[in-house]
Amino acid sequence: MLDLFSDSQDDVYKPTISEEELSDAEVLIELAQIKEELKDRVVVLGHHYQQDDVIAFADITGDSLQLAREAAKLSKEYIIFCGVHFMAETADMLTSSNQKVILPDLKAGCSMADMARKSEIDRAWSFILKSTQKKVIPVTYINCAATLKAFVGENGGSICTSSNAEKVISWALSQGEKLLFFPDQHLGRNTCFKMGIPLEDMVVYNPNMQNGGLTSEQVEKARVILWYGFCSVHQGFTKEQVKTIKANNPQMNVIVHPECPFEVVQASDDNGSTSYIIDKVDKAPSGSEFAIGTEINLVNRLAASYPDKKIVSLSPYQCLCTTMYRVRPRWLLASFRAIKDNKPINIISVPEDIARSSLKALDRMLAIK
Ligand code: 13P
Ligand code: SF4
Repeated sequence: MLDLFSDSQDDVYKPTISEEELSDAEVLIELAQIKEELKDRVVVLGHHYQQDDVIAFADITGDSLQLAREAAKLSKEYIIFCGVHFMAETADMLTSSNQKVILPDLKAGCSMADMARKSEIDRAWSFILKSTQKKVIPVTYINCAATLKAFVGENGGSICTSSNAEKVISWALSQGEKLLFFPDQHLGRNTCFKMGIPLEDMVVYNPNMQNGGLTSEQVEKARVILWYGFCSVHQGFTKEQVKTIKANNPQMNVIVHPECPFEVVQASDDNGSTSYIIDKVDKAPSGSEFAIGTEINLVNRLAASYPDKKIVSLSPYQCLCTTMYRVRPRWLLASFRAIKDNKPINIISVPEDIARSSLKALDRMLAIK
């Protein structure tokens, strides 16, 4: 089993099915056969940002919350998670110890998750607790390493996703007087503002600065402390893009993911998780028009799935999540072949103590209706 908690990248297994061995078309043919052969032992989960050739082999697709809920219900021996590392870790913690979670490419990480490290959170936490006597509840976006979920679990907090952030934050503020939200400043700010918390009551803690760039007085005065992190894909959408689309096509509905910056969300008509966006498009009458601010694979799939509606990306640039894109059909096939040979590869296994603490935070989230 690989030690994903070691700093060394040398033990990162790279599955090798070369193009000389199999063409892309042959990979898809063998994938269909092997999936059928192993259907009683293997289930494939796919996040909405995966490419079409991967989504085609997913038994269950969803946003982060749906995939976490589904993972908790699974009974098959192997769960191949077509998504990014934190999602596979979460699935591992929510499944039983005799089930194995596999990530087809171990380098499929999330740049936002990497923006908060345990040592930085520890430092921030002690500065915040020194600065105020008030009770602070930590909430982490699910896009983070298991060690951070464990921190939250041990400090009375909860995890959230983009689809339940409002409920989780209002729970957190009923448990304490202040909120520390990490790693995504935008999801935190957008959600808190929607809940009626003014921007003046929020401060940003930047881990690259002494004491996060804050004074103790600022911490004491703030209701919400937002971590500096962001998603490099969603950070790229701009208010000007919304204005241009609206000026040229006033009938266009602009809908964005809440990982987008505050001014983009404010200028847009609507915002929500990937599943929320899909549902909005699905329920809209024929002829509706949408400019969507999220990852391009999802936008393109929606455009192809609803030819009776006009669906475009909000951005003229390719907003691709390059880490999600690392999961290729040939790596998925390599994962299946290894299971068939009874030598499974790329198993994601969270150490027991970290999983136990993280589960406190995950269970709190799953209990918040
Ligand atoms: P969703 O929970 O909306 O699927 O978002 C996950 C994500 O990583 C968005 O960038
Ligand atoms: Fe992470 Fe952004 Fe990719 Fe989502 S889109 S997985 S937040 S890098």
